[in-house]
Amino acid sequence: MNQTSMIPALEEKRIVPVVKLDRTEDAEPLAEALIRGGLPVAEVTFRTDAAEESIRIMRRQFPEMLVGAGTVINTEQAKRALDAGAAFLVSPGTNDKVLQFAIDQNIPVFPGVCTPSEIITALEYGLEIVKFFPAKQYGGLDTMKALAGPFPTIRFMPTGGVNLSNMKEFLAFKKIIAIGGSWMVKDTLINEGDFDGIAKLTKEAVGLAAQ
Ligand code: 3PG
Repeated sequence: MNQTSMIPALEEKRIVPVVKLDRTEDAEPLAEALIRGGLPVAEVTFRTDAAEESIRIMRRQFPEMLVGAGTVINTEQAKRALDAGAAFLVSPGTNDKVLQFAIDQNIPVFPGVCTPSEIITALEYGLEIVKFFPAKQYGGLDTMKALAGPFPTIRFMPTGGVNLSNMKEFLAFKKIIAIGGSWMVKDTLINEGDFDGIAKLTKEAVGLAAQ
């Protein structure tokens, strides 16, 4: 599997919830809430120790769900994500070792970029879908439009400051294959066990993306 295998799912869903779980017991209800909200996709970030096991739980309980690993910054995390059953890897940056590992293991990988040089590196690895991060702070849509000039084949997945109020604007740019964000899976909602709230915010985002 490579990035191309993910294109239909990304084009269909258009939103990738970026999830940070502190407790593995939240993995199942969180996945269920996303599914209930109409978005059976999650990027579970390796920002916490619970990430690996949470991915394993989600994959086991909801095999139809598209569960990947986020914030993968080294090969050790990439290996753990792969072992847990992650269907894809996302990194906030462009690390040659992680990219080569993912290609060797045949798992789709999305490197984080915000400069032309990082895009050139992604292209060297045959990768044409990149995470643009942190999108808001690095100039958002204007920067992606400028980068699309010299790199016409590149498609972006912006994350970082993307939310309900600006998602439509991002999704309207045809070089953006999907957006990512944590606004529908906020820490506070997860920690309070407000999975109904998560399902509601997810549904709202899915509805807006479909308009
Ligand atoms: C990510 O890792 O993609 C971002 O931290 C998500 O950004 P957000 O929390 O601003 O949505």
